Amino acid sequence: MIHLGIERRLREAVAQILPDATLSSVHVRPCPDPKFGDYQSNSLMALAKERKMNPRQLATDVLAKLDVSDTCEKVEIAGAGFLNFRLKVSAVAEAVMAAARGEHLFFSKSAQPRTIVIDFSSPNVAKPMHVGHIRSTGIGDALQRVLRLLGHKIISDNHIGDWGTQFGKLLLGWKQILDREALETDAIVELERLYKIINAECDANPARLEEAKQELVKLQAGDAENVAVWKDMIRVSQIQFDTIYGRLGVKFDHELGESFYNPWLGEVVNDLLTRGIARESEGAIAVFSDGTLPPKQDPFLVNRDGEWAADPALVRKSDGGFNYMTTDLATIDYRLKTWSPHEIVYVVDDRQSPHFRKLFLTFARWQPDAAKKVKLVHVGFGKILGDDGKPFKTRSGDTVKLGDLLDEAEDRALKLVTEKNPDLAEAARREIARVVGLGGVKYADLLPNRQSDYVFSWDKMLSMQGNTAPYLQYAYARIRSIFRKAGEGTSNIEHRTSNIELKAPEELALAKHLLNFGLTLEAVTDDYRPNLLCNYLHELAGYFATFYEACPVLKAEGDDRAARLTLCDVTARVLKQGLDVLGIEVLEQM
Ligand code: ARG
Repeated sequence: MIHLGIERRLREAVAQILPDATLSSVHVRPCPDPKFGDYQSNSLMALAKERKMNPRQLATDVLAKLDVSDTCEKVEIAGAGFLNFRLKVSAVAEAVMAAARGEHLFFSKSAQPRTIVIDFSSPNVAKPMHVGHIRSTGIGDALQRVLRLLGHKIISDNHIGDWGTQFGKLLLGWKQILDREALETDAIVELERLYKIINAECDANPARLEEAKQELVKLQAGDAENVAVWKDMIRVSQIQFDTIYGRLGVKFDHELGESFYNPWLGEVVNDLLTRGIARESEGAIAVFSDGTLPPKQDPFLVNRDGEWAADPALVRKSDGGFNYMTTDLATIDYRLKTWSPHEIVYVVDDRQSPHFRKLFLTFARWQPDAAKKVKLVHVGFGKILGDDGKPFKTRSGDTVKLGDLLDEAEDRALKLVTEKNPDLAEAARREIARVVGLGGVKYADLLPNRQSDYVFSWDKMLSMQGNTAPYLQYAYARIRSIFRKAGEGTSNIEHRTSNIELKAPEELALAKHLLNFGLTLEAVTDDYRPNLLCNYLHELAGYFATFYEACPVLKAEGDDRAARLTLCDVTARVLKQGLDVLGIEVLEQM
């Protein structure tokens, strides 16, 4: 990584001038405006400020000790003390050749690998996965893939909602009105039906509610029959989850559902009570504000008509049952003891942000030492909207089931593929439709800044034009077709071993963009934002298109041809790798 080499040498030069400087704060980043150079460092300005030095003088002194002449043209000091670096064309070509030889792909493994637990997807038993689940599942999977690629140790954990008061009603329904045949055909639909009926009955009739509660109490007490039914419900739900994960290509290291933590919940509450963190309130046990945060930032307070009122976190209900919060506290405790992670990342809907803020603060009060050693992060995201700007629904106003959505994506893609290639065999058309359809949906979900809501649009996400998966998949397939056309005569070995020169500005621009792949991957992990990679890949395809327009590849000869084939080859590899970590497949031919 050229920029890392520059950064390392800049740090060495800084160390000579300022022996006490914190070198890890010295960075070299892509230059926002290519007019000024390829990379830039503004770190000296901060160092000078801390020391009340003249920043331009510091830059001059550091520059005198800095030798990057092997990779850069003359380094320039700009503005208040920026350093601007422009790469030598030969250094760019060298990096591209090394990539072509398979020595790297413009990124390097992290020098300090971190252990990170990623909690994502986490659907609830007995309910269908709906369109919203694509968000947590897709973003979480992209993050685990990027982080793994960079050499971090990832523990992905699907925190399935397999416990809670809903099981009282479900048990009652199962025992009294279950339609076995319907269960065989579509278990989730049947479980939903049971729940809806019993829930309505409970709303109308307190005696019915009491019955459901009794079923729950029996389940909680370990009653053999109820436990067996509950396990059956989990089993049939898991089949549905696994089908969807299989289609999406998503894998978890663990699927420790909420019920896994049941044995520890009582202890958690007792410990919170003993330490004075939780207290009794209207028969329940709750955690209140400790008053250390300004009210506006305190998640344990809500503003009601201008007054701050308590908004405690419940950890035990008045009926003795435990809460979502209690399970999450026990979960952090378990994860820390089991995996000693540096970080736990929760990829969950932004609407749960108050829950996570309360959770993290409560954990810090409960286990202050452990809390100091782990970074707890809520990676939130916004909603998927329909054309009307309201949450995306089916025509009849129901939530869109994820399985149906994926079916529709493939169906629509199949129509498009068939229009374009009516002569292709059906199996081939179906395979293209699968890759393009699923890729389109996933990419459209990863592309917006994760916290913004976005409008779901089939036409946009399946379009061959614009910032879409099909556009990138097509760009990849097009490059691969160049190699097929090049045929036997131009073996891959030939272009990989020749020395290349980057003569045309379009060649150089493409090559320089390739160099920034690793920086982009790191930026994705810095703030958990896969959209940065989407944009990078889209730009890459753009640079490639410009290059391909200006520079004939197969019609070129000799060194030019070899250089251009090399650029094609590594561009295709970066596209493929980049899409792969977004969880998106490519095809050799489309
Ligand atoms: N099952 C929850 C829901 O559907 C999401 C769980 C997220 N993870 C967690 N540790 N709280 O809302």
